Amino acid sequence: MTKYSRITGTGSYLPPKRVTNAELAAQLAADGVETSDQWIVERTGIRARHFAEADVTSSDLGLHAARSALEAAGRQPSDIDLIIVATSTPDMVFPSSAAILQHKLGIAGCPAFDVQAVCSGFVYALTVADAMIRTGSASKALVIGAEVFSRILDFKDRTTCVLFGDGAGAVVLEASDTPGILATDLHADGKYVGILCVPGNVSGGKVLGDPLLKMDGQAVFKLAVGVLEESARATLQKAGRTEADIDWLIPHQANIRIMQGTAKKLKLPMDKLVVTVDQHGNTSAASIPLALDAAVRKGQVKKGDTLMLEGVGGGFTWGAVLLDF
Ligand code: UT7
Repeated sequence: MTKYSRITGTGSYLPPKRVTNAELAAQLAADGVETSDQWIVERTGIRARHFAEADVTSSDLGLHAARSALEAAGRQPSDIDLIIVATSTPDMVFPSSAAILQHKLGIAGCPAFDVQAVCSGFVYALTVADAMIRTGSASKALVIGAEVFSRILDFKDRTTCVLFGDGAGAVVLEASDTPGILATDLHADGKYVGILCVPGNVSGGKVLGDPLLKMDGQAVFKLAVGVLEESARATLQKAGRTEADIDWLIPHQANIRIMQGTAKKLKLPMDKLVVTVDQHGNTSAASIPLALDAAVRKGQVKKGDTLMLEGVGGGFTWGAVLLDF
């Protein structure tokens, strides 16, 4: 049996429409919502985000990212025997965006399903794919994070609408005799449902509740820094590694202050932190694979580097994946 799973290719995709803080602030001002580039940059580190056009879905964004990851891995869609899409903004109530994406890739037959763990979705999906590969249920998986968070934003709520963006990232994860994924760590605590949620549902042909994102930013902030440190340490311990072994920390890209706080707690220098939140905003489940692919294509992350991927978000959910790239 295969001992490990290993990332053999990465890809990502951002919808072309880029909206700077100044542009967003001007649009919001027209509706009487006051914000500024300065506030957004100082509190979050975000300078711009991408928004998908109204007819573009998560599976559309995910398809571009998947094709680019396949190309990087030197694989064809027909080589793939498992597709997992992490998303909280699926194309439909059902079927899964993964099944829709599978058809768009022109393949059929292999298992395809979505994982819903909000901003921790990608580390959840990667952990599931790793387990399925190590137990022999799959040998070449596409693991994708894809989101159109712009659809669930309340553009009258300045405390949330300036934070999020759309995009997708993907990896090809393959069976390997050498590592690969070294250790994983996942958690959830449902008592925190209310601090970050979209409290709506479809029922009897109508939306029941509120279909727009609600967040208690400060509560999320405090929890995030604590659990990200804990989960990184737990993952290192499982792998028998230490902080000093980490070449790159790739945390969920929500707020530069959370990311810097985590790096500091782990005593990692800031130049080991991959940062894309400035250009992407928070793309939820897409943020980690987007950041990973950007770092690979920039030549920051190189083959053999040890990476700590960390997610945190609604649920409350959190977790980490330590891997040799
Ligand atoms: O992906 C899931 C993970 N999500 C997160 O990680 C988000 C975590 N939370 C955060 O990143 C931060 O808490 C925020 C960026 C959401 C907020 O930053 P903060 O430093 O906690 O600000 P705050 O909520 O304490 O607000 C400070 C002030 C308030 O005004 P008053 O009450 O002091 O007069 C807000 O009304 O800033 C005001 N404010 C804004 N002002 C201009 C809030 N949003 C804005 C805005 N523009 N967009």
